[in-house]
Amino acid sequence: MCGIVAYVGRKIAQPLLVEGLKRLEYRGYDSAGVAVIDSAGNMHIRRAVGRISVLENTIQNGQALPESFIGMAHTRWATHGAPTECNAHPHLDNSGRIALVHNGIIENYAALKKFLSGKGHQFSSQTDTEVLAVLIGDLYDEMKVQNHIPPGVSPLQRAVQAALHQVEGTYGIAVICKEEPDTLVVARKGSPLIIGVGKDEYVVASDASAIVEHTTQVIYLNDNEMAILKPDAFRTCTIDDIAISPVVSQLENKLEEYELGDYPHYMLKEIFEQPTAISNTLRGRAEQKDGRIVLGGVSKYTRELIRAHRIILTGQGTAWHAGLVGDYLMEDLAKIVTECTYASEFRYRNPIVEEGTVVVAISQSGETADTLAALREAKERGALALGVINAVGSTIARETDAGIYLHAGPEIGVASTKAFTCQIVTLAMLALYIGRRRFMSQAQCQEVIDGLCAIPDQMTKVLEQSDHIRTIVEQFCERENWLFLGRGYHYPVALEGALKLKEISYIHAEGMPAAEMKHGPIALINDGMPVVFIATQGSQYDKVISNIEEVRARGGKIIAVATEGDANIHRYSEHVIEVPDAMECLQPLLTVVPLQLIAYHAALARGCNVDKPRNLAKSVTVE
Ligand code: AGP
Ligand code: GLU
Repeated sequence: MCGIVAYVGRKIAQPLLVEGLKRLEYRGYDSAGVAVIDSAGNMHIRRAVGRISVLENTIQNGQALPESFIGMAHTRWATHGAPTECNAHPHLDNSGRIALVHNGIIENYAALKKFLSGKGHQFSSQTDTEVLAVLIGDLYDEMKVQNHIPPGVSPLQRAVQAALHQVEGTYGIAVICKEEPDTLVVARKGSPLIIGVGKDEYVVASDASAIVEHTTQVIYLNDNEMAILKPDAFRTCTIDDIAISPVVSQLENKLEEYELGDYPHYMLKEIFEQPTAISNTLRGRAEQKDGRIVLGGVSKYTRELIRAHRIILTGQGTAWHAGLVGDYLMEDLAKIVTECTYASEFRYRNPIVEEGTVVVAISQSGETADTLAALREAKERGALALGVINAVGSTIARETDAGIYLHAGPEIGVASTKAFTCQIVTLAMLALYIGRRRFMSQAQCQEVIDGLCAIPDQMTKVLEQSDHIRTIVEQFCERENWLFLGRGYHYPVALEGALKLKEISYIHAEGMPAAEMKHGPIALINDGMPVVFIATQGSQYDKVISNIEEVRARGGKIIAVATEGDANIHRYSEHVIEVPDAMECLQPLLTVVPLQLIAYHAALARGCNVDKPRNLAKSVTVE
């Protein structure tokens, strides 16, 4: 949700900022802007509605920016105020000296705006962010007049600190001031900010993708922390001005992992990366030779895990769907009572967290505000908090007691794909890790590990059917309503298939347990409606066939995802997409792939922007 990139150093800032924004564009893309201070101390701002390319064109065609060595840029995902040029960031204070970019929500902006208006300040946008910019400007003036600033201390820093004390809500901010043209002030509470530490330069960004080409040394800011950055010096402290010794970490991902390579879209790249991503998730953890699972990240808590009475899996969107599969896995393999709950619901329902409860937060980005809030609530109530996270060093990863990283590599496409399958693999390993130490036999553990290790090759076979799937989808892509149905392990897959289609092709789709259909949704089925059934051979195959019959009797057209070599299914379906046979508990890893490809090809056929669907942002850092 929104991307911030800011720079101070010896290089010319503007190209670096715009390039950084392009890498962050997947986080939000309704408008964008950039501010720099030139060597004469003048502030220059350019803003544009739409994609980064529009901003870039504005700068290239007539509104060039002067040479400058400090600046910041923003790609917005609007929360307060429509995506217009005047609402785009950066925002200025009333004097035009201070510029601010912000990710998050200033919850008490209305009260602050009233107070500042009373003092004669003007506002030119509807955003909450401008209020913070004006407040900083107001306090900056006050401090200068009162001459309260000790020598050597940045007045900008003090004004930002004073303003943040008055703010309620969440923020990741970067601030510059033309009276201090070599100082970049950044701060965070609830929205991510990473400081890349280079030689005589700092690149600050909402995530590592905009930093990795400049440096791999980073500092992760924690909530209520800030940094004052100059080309030759930096200081980190709390917003109460207590100094903090910065911990410099090494970024894991390489630049190439953020590149599109030969693929037309990140989503397709990430769908096709799944066999490799899963191999990376399994590497060093699923030991096929000795039939063991090794999870270094959680080993410290093995005793608590074995004795757990209840596991609560939580997340949002696709991560929640992975959690639903995890629910089945935990109960099947670890034999522990498990529930999977939306993080946003868990947080506010006064949840019961008894002794022996383990909460597992599932998140690709590790920054989802709802999931973070649920995690904090669970910890507060005494649960052991584990993370199943992709983004290394992310806020959720840092706030859990222990966790297992996915190692799926960066996921840029707004529609989550490889994170989903790697989350399931990780939850399966966790279930085996616990199960083997409880009631599971070595033979069963070995069988599931063998099954997991076979998945990457089996998945490759499913991916080979991409063209076949495209030809099926092209026959139905004009239809505005689809259903996705599955039972047992395939119920969450049905939900995920529907979500993917909705997100990127804007087709209305519903996913549900196949048996639930007859309790109401069957009324929706009309002649020619595409209904995708996950109908692989397994314990509920016959029941699914009956559900297929029910749909056919009402004119629905069946697209079946079925087990390779199942001749029977062709009698009931207009179209069949085959997946290799696998243990029932691992089948979601294969059956979801055709659904990802259905969504991808439908979006393409309908001319939608696959990687940047309307209204969405990759990482949702507001509640
Ligand atoms: C999936 O395609 C989504 N765009 C979305 O539902 C996502 O899975 C959800 O916002 C959770 O994100 P996270 O995994 O980064 O926490
Ligand atoms: N609340 C701010 C706005 O609507 C920031 C949104 C964002 O994080 O992009 O402008």
